Order: sequence, then C-alpha cells, then structure tokens
Amino acid sequence: MTATTERPKISAPEELALLEAPKRPRPRYLPGDPEDRERLARMIRVDHAGEYGAKRIYEGQLAVLKRTPAAKIIRHMKDQEQEHLDTFERLIVERRVRPTVLHPVWHVAGFALGAATALLGQRAAMACTVAVEEVIDEHYAEQAEQLGDSEPELKATIEKFRAEELEHRDIGLAHEAELTAGYPVLTSLIKAGSRAAIWAAQRF
Ligand SMILES: [Fe+2]
Ligand SMILES: [Fe+2]
Repeated sequence: MTATTERPKISAPEELALLEAPKRPRPRYLPGDPEDRERLARMIRVDHAGEYGAKRIYEGQLAVLKRTPAAKIIRHMKDQEQEHLDTFERLIVERRVRPTVLHPVWHVAGFALGAATALLGQRAAMACTVAVEEVIDEHYAEQAEQLGDSEPELKATIEKFRAEELEHRDIGLAHEAELTAGYPVLTSLIKAGSRAAIWAAQRF
C-alpha cells in the first residue's frame, strides 16, 4: 500500500509533544506563573541529568580501577549517586518534567570521562571527582538559594545531596587528587565541561 507515504512528516519531538499534550495535566506544585514552573522543571531536569552523569563517571572509574584499593570508596560514591538519581527519577515522574533529550550523551560522556581519567591513574580519577563535585556543589548551592522558602522538601533534598557531593570532593582530596600531574589544567577543563553540561541539560 502506498497510502502511508502521503502522511505529512513531523519530527520526532513534535510527535512526542502531540502524544503528550492532551494528557498532561497542569502541575500542582506551584501556584504561580509559567515562568516559575519552567524554572522548577529546568532544575529537576538538570539535576536528574547531572546525577545520571555522575553515576556514569563513577562507573567509568570503576571499570578501570575495580581491582585497586580505591574501588571500595569509588563504589560508595557511585551508590550515593544512584540514590540521588533515584530521587530525581521519582521527581521527574511526579512533577511531570520532560527529561533531557541528551540522555545518550551523558551516558557515553560520563563513562568516558570517568574511564579516561582513571586510565591516567587513581590520582587523576580523584582529580576528576574533585572538579566535578565542586561544580555540582556550586550548582546545588545556587538552586537552594533560588528556591528560597518555596519547595522546602525539594530544598532539603538538594541540601542533603550537596553535603554528599562535598563528601565526594573531600574523598578526592584525601586520595591525593592535587598531586596529579597537571592538576590545575585537568580540573579547569573538567569544570568547564561540567558547566557546559549543566547549561545544556537545563535546556535540552
Ligand atoms: Fe550526586
Ligand atoms: Fe557526587
């Protein structure tokens, strides 16, 4: 049959929007204007993406360092990222937030960053952890401030996670991250990449 060839072509995102539009109720979480709702959706979207990326970084590190003494502590950090991810996974559903379309990018890039730094050695892997977690700390601090008194539950979650990200940074520092050859350059590059990832994950 040739009838199907006459169907007007629409892009995948348009198709998705058409499928979702009729059944998407108004979110209940904010009384106010669409701007606030969009801001909150962006927060949850980027946090969900970031926690996924973080989990993938530690998985990449573990793939390389699984038989070293550092494996245990890396696994501990990965397990905490999994908890963070599970929480945002739940929030994405509850608040009906569109997840990032860049998911496959974070899947590959997170793992690659973790594995590549681990291949440079355990200290470089820890330097990667310090750089990424410092950026996430700034990011969560900013979000907590933006939330102010609205969304106390979400704010408490963000603050709990922020404390754990700082614990990860401290683990990196305690494992001689700063003794990595080229530490300032390596960490600047990773921080720039992490900030770019945050920018992209908020929007796409
Ligand atoms: Fe995390
Ligand atoms: Fe972390």
